[in-house]
Amino acid sequence: MTLAANHDAATTAELDARAKAILRGNDRGGYTVPTEGLYPYQWNWDSAFAAWGFAAFDLDRAWVELETLFSGQWANGMVPHILFHREDAGYFPGPDVWGAGETIPSSGISQPPVAATMARAIFERDPQAGAPRMAPLYDKLLAWHRWFYQHRCESGACCITHPWESGRDNAPDWDGALKGIDTSNVGPYTRRDTSHVNPDMRPTKRDYDCYITLVQFGRACDWDEAEILANSPFRVADPTMTFILLRAHRDLKWLGTTLGHDTTEIDGWIAELEAGVESLWNDDVGVYDARDLRSGELAGSPSNASFLCWYAGVSSPKTEARLARILSKVTYGVPSYDPEGPLFDHMRYWRGPVWGMMNTMIGMGLADAGLTDLATQVRDDTAALIADHGFAEYFSPLDGTPAGGGTFTWTAAVWLGWASPSAQKGA
Ligand code: GLC
Repeated sequence: MTLAANHDAATTAELDARAKAILRGNDRGGYTVPTEGLYPYQWNWDSAFAAWGFAAFDLDRAWVELETLFSGQWANGMVPHILFHREDAGYFPGPDVWGAGETIPSSGISQPPVAATMARAIFERDPQAGAPRMAPLYDKLLAWHRWFYQHRCESGACCITHPWESGRDNAPDWDGALKGIDTSNVGPYTRRDTSHVNPDMRPTKRDYDCYITLVQFGRACDWDEAEILANSPFRVADPTMTFILLRAHRDLKWLGTTLGHDTTEIDGWIAELEAGVESLWNDDVGVYDARDLRSGELAGSPSNASFLCWYAGVSSPKTEARLARILSKVTYGVPSYDPEGPLFDHMRYWRGPVWGMMNTMIGMGLADAGLTDLATQVRDDTAALIADHGFAEYFSPLDGTPAGGGTFTWTAAVWLGWASPSAQKGA
């Protein structure tokens, strides 16, 4: 899809203004919530995108977003997936369930490390003004990346210890690994997500029982990584984490070199991940896939994370052909699961819908790899989706029906940073 012929400069200006208003509206003072109601705290990768969106019109506010995120960093380097800055009864599971956090109550797991990549992009907009902000942030990013290396990269690729850690909560990638999880002791709890949005568009009850069981398990381990590594029933090497971490290492290396640091340690991480990524190649399906580290099995799930390979600097002609085919099957690419696959569900969260921020990373990677036609198609689809259907959390790839939160931070952010015709002019 391309932007309608009647999409003129005035429409672009109006959409840019709406996107800025969404970021301002979701600003809670130093951090941005993903959307009012459904997600009332600071989420890790959402914030990295938010910072990038702010950078299009308020550089200082962009830095503040990242600084607030890293104010919740643990002593071991981990940056949590949620920071519970202020109690909110409308969200489950909250700080009382996680029982985690050091300087700020938090969840006990992390999320894909988009922050170094976004920090670089923000820094490059104005290196002089950014230098004093970047210097302390660099050390924190380095500690976080070291934490991934020490606690998530034992198979060579980067793994997750909870589906929420990947950011693709109910993707088919985890189905096999979740199958064996005993949820009989989960106890009663009340979900809040399904009171905000249609339950048919959210993870199932069984999924949620697994999520909460894994939170209870981590808490029982006192969030000790060695114990979680030894005993967790869920440990899956994930293409989202692996590709995003690899890209983030490269951007961190660039930042380190620019700031005059020795980056030998980062070079080692890059080399190991470049080799490790090949353990995720699934030749039967023809894409990079998730691998259950407990059973050794590949998931057989062609997802939008499979198409992050170029973002990580990994080329794959077979994957190119697969992406082209998938794009020809939908109105708006890139669906989170192959529309010809048996588990495709066009409205259920990470099992079919399109996500603007995933498209952004896929499109950036394609452009970096010189795959201009595919890159243009992904960006045009994203622009048309948002122009026609608004700033929703995610959308049907078949007809663009918006779903989840309606005024979503990362959708507004990627419009401003990448999809808007005004961003394209500046690119
Ligand atoms: C959902 C998404 C996750 C995101 C969070 C807040 O859990 O799956 O990726 O970070 O919502 O938007």
